[in-house]
Amino acid sequence: MNASPTNASPTHIAIELNGTQHTVPAGITVVAALSLWANGVTRVSVLGEPRAAFCGMGICQECRVTVNGQRRLACQTVCLPGMVVHTTTPTKPGHSA
Ligand code: FES
Repeated sequence: MNASPTNASPTHIAIELNGTQHTVPAGITVVAALSLWANGVTRVSVLGEPRAAFCGMGICQECRVTVNGQRRLACQTVCLPGMVVHTTTPTKPGHSA
């Protein structure tokens, strides 16, 4: 029996990364999407250095981003259609998110 096209899962979905719409493969994590569209950078350190995922399993916290207004670990979050993702930057010298 052939699957109906209406039951097919999408192969790609649209998400927003730092204010720009992007199409990403369905089922990938936010950190994978950031690797595709934002050089993998998730945040900026207190010294202004770009940070990216390190452990990939929820331990190091280097991949923390904001997803739909909530702090999330990008390596532990699967992209969903319409998701809004923001990487973080310091709001003032000496502070990072
Ligand atoms: S990469 Fe270490 S917690 Fe996500």
